[in-house]
Amino acid sequence: MILKATNLSSQPKIVTTVDALRQALRQPRRALGRIGLVPTMGALHEGHLSLVRAAGDECDVTVVSIYVNPSQFAPTEDLARYPRRLEADLEALGGCGADLVFAPDDAEVYRPGHATWVAVGGVADAWEGRLRPNHFRGVATVVLKLFQMAQPDVAFFGQKDFQQLQVVRQMVADLNVPVEVRGCATVREPNGLAMSSRNAYLSPNARRRARALSQSLVRAEELVAGGERDASEIVRQIHEVVQAAAPVEIDYIALVHPETLEPIAEVAGCTAVLLAVRIEGTRLIDNTLLTPPSA
Ligand code: PAF
Repeated sequence: MILKATNLSSQPKIVTTVDALRQALRQPRRALGRIGLVPTMGALHEGHLSLVRAAGDECDVTVVSIYVNPSQFAPTEDLARYPRRLEADLEALGGCGADLVFAPDDAEVYRPGHATWVAVGGVADAWEGRLRPNHFRGVATVVLKLFQMAQPDVAFFGQKDFQQLQVVRQMVADLNVPVEVRGCATVREPNGLAMSSRNAYLSPNARRRARALSQSLVRAEELVAGGERDASEIVRQIHEVVQAAAPVEIDYIALVHPETLEPIAEVAGCTAVLLAVRIEGTRLIDNTLLTPPSA
């Protein structure tokens, strides 16, 4: 089924089945057009739109998938209340360079009897993987399925979900998936808060307090620029700044190798800072890359 999306002519077409998606991509594929995929769960914000623009710059056809993937949510998580607003998403995509929106329902993605899962090891095990068992199994499975469905040449992911990006890269490398993976810079609100669909859960007060996250990352960058190399001291100072958001529950603050995601003791080269906290019950993650001047 192919539906022409509502009123704005610059809006993308929307397809809801794999057959229709493949049909819509057949012609550009034959013409050797480069196909870009931006996988999303909808509730699109400027961060997503920047991925769509990046895809538009590099590709002949840009597909945006909008699918809230149940298998990456634990039973205790926010699947039921995760924001779903397809009409607003289509409107937001108008003029951003998206050609096609793939918005399947659950039955289209997980057919009855679905029993195959992608379990990425290594980079998926720590941090989010430890606190959210099966989360990355769900992410890797649906991303691989989306890759199979759209067969893109390139796929675009935000660096905001830093560990997810590494998990996708690991899967693509390990399973010889013929898709180039692009990581795109985190887009922030004017107060520094990293854009996320889950920011919609924050009260105005929590949103104000959440500024402390990006401020703590700036502190880490300043420390490294000023010569600090001791990871435990940098973590201590990040902690101190994050406490400005108090009461805040800290899941983890860590300095890690940017590819293996293993903790490091000293900032000797490019290092990722990963943090995850909960403010008023809303879980927020953020990260930055630290590059010592000599690295
Ligand atoms: O980052 C997201 O929005 C999701 O994890 C993704 C990659 C679309 C898979 O459901």
